[in-house]
Amino acid sequence: MKELKVAKSAGFCFGVSRSVKMAEEMLEEESSCYSFGELIHNADVVNYLEQKGLRVTNSPEKLGKNDAVIIRSHGITKALCDCLAASGAKIVDATCPRVKHIHNIVVDASERNRQPVIIGAADHPEVQAICGWCRNPIVAGNAEELQSLILSGSIDADQPITMVIQTTQTKEKLLRCEEVLHNLCKDAEIHETICGATSTRQNEARELSQTCGAMIVIGARHSANSRHLNEICRQNCEKVQFIENASQLDLSALKDVDTIGLTAGASVPAWIIQEVIIAIQTSD
Ligand code: F3S
Repeated sequence: MKELKVAKSAGFCFGVSRSVKMAEEMLEEESSCYSFGELIHNADVVNYLEQKGLRVTNSPEKLGKNDAVIIRSHGITKALCDCLAASGAKIVDATCPRVKHIHNIVVDASERNRQPVIIGAADHPEVQAICGWCRNPIVAGNAEELQSLILSGSIDADQPITMVIQTTQTKEKLLRCEEVLHNLCKDAEIHETICGATSTRQNEARELSQTCGAMIVIGARHSANSRHLNEICRQNCEKVQFIENASQLDLSALKDVDTIGLTAGASVPAWIIQEVIIAIQTSD
């Protein structure tokens, strides 16, 4: 009998769970419901909400006073918030409070004439939204990029800098960026804005992947936190399956493995995790 070790933190984080709950409540109370962009990075959950009546829109100008619109946990720019407010639609703001905290930091940095520097993926909605709350934001993907931006003069090392980091990035990246700023800049204010839910998942994934013969990581490929879990597991374990749901599980690759570890990104609902667990347990 194989041993299956499931990470305690696997699945929905506080912010995602809150946004799904807020969407369900909105669907009960309002007749015309939209989400601004897909509510979470999970096709199964998006389909489930769509069946209940939640439509996805990217066009605030098409909304009116009879509509209700939910802002997802990644948040949106200030300009888009203003645009939604101008449409007259009822706004349900499900921006995760931890993301909202970053918006407040960069707003404050702009007001104090500090250069906002955001560490993260420039094309990720969370990072794009953060950029929309401050003046002249600069995004760096990692410490090497940050260093070259400073050495090339794109970031003025003499200017006061306020650094924040995308909630789903790794602690290692944060520490390396912190070191670069301390070495090269005169006045760098560093905010450790990685979400606790993310670091807990990453630590558990690291521990499990160091002791298990195979790892199953459930999550969407376009979900930053799931991709990071996959990367961490691959650093420690040779047999890693990065899947979206039970239908993608390769049971034959688990045949000779005694201990299997399982983790799941923050957008994965409990029912998908349960299906994967059952598929593994019944394959013995
Ligand atoms: Fe919020 Fe952290 Fe989740 S920032 S959306 S609780 S991963």
